[in-house]
Amino acid sequence: MSTRDATMMDDVAEILLDTETISSRVRQLGADIARDYAAKDVVLVSILKGALPFLADLMRAAPIPLALDFLEVSSYGTSTETSGVVRVLKDLANPIEGRHVLIVEDIIDTGLTLNYVIEHLRAQRPASIKLCALLDKPARRIVPLQIDYRGFEIPDKFVIGYGLDYAERYRNLPFIGVLRPEVYRR
Ligand code: IMP
Repeated sequence: MSTRDATMMDDVAEILLDTETISSRVRQLGADIARDYAAKDVVLVSILKGALPFLADLMRAAPIPLALDFLEVSSYGTSTETSGVVRVLKDLANPIEGRHVLIVEDIIDTGLTLNYVIEHLRAQRPASIKLCALLDKPARRIVPLQIDYRGFEIPDKFVIGYGLDYAERYRNLPFIGVLRPEVYRR
């Protein structure tokens, strides 16, 4: 372990959701999705990069035929706040017209990013669009959104791990923790 890696844990103020808690909730969500989409042509549309660990676990908990596709977006803003101005960096590889889309996202904070993404996808005329988010931070919501499959509601704290980053770091932590505020004030 390098000195850089060794300091990762020092930047965690508290563990909010441990590995076992995440994994049992993701298994439940997978079972719900498998039940609801069993007979449908479903595409899981995931948003790079934070949702990747969640997507990987979720799809293996949903033993039904499904397809994957990816969007990469960047939202302008400060390091811990989004502005609502979203740019598509990577678009879907395949058409979604007439198919059932389930968006798989790591966290809904203000809702601005997802609101943009939903409009972007709706323009491509899918049969339906639903939203699955591992984390919901309702305290900061600006745009109301219906979360059809929700993992956990969390308090208004900046979290890292299980895909979530701060300045591209901490994504590989196997739990979800609160980042020490000193780190982003540095
Ligand atoms: P929104 O547009 O404010 O809902 O922000 C959504 C995006 O901001 C998420 O997909 C994350 O990439 C990022 N984000 C929001 N809150 C957090 C957090 O607590 N930790 C890490 N990333 C976050």
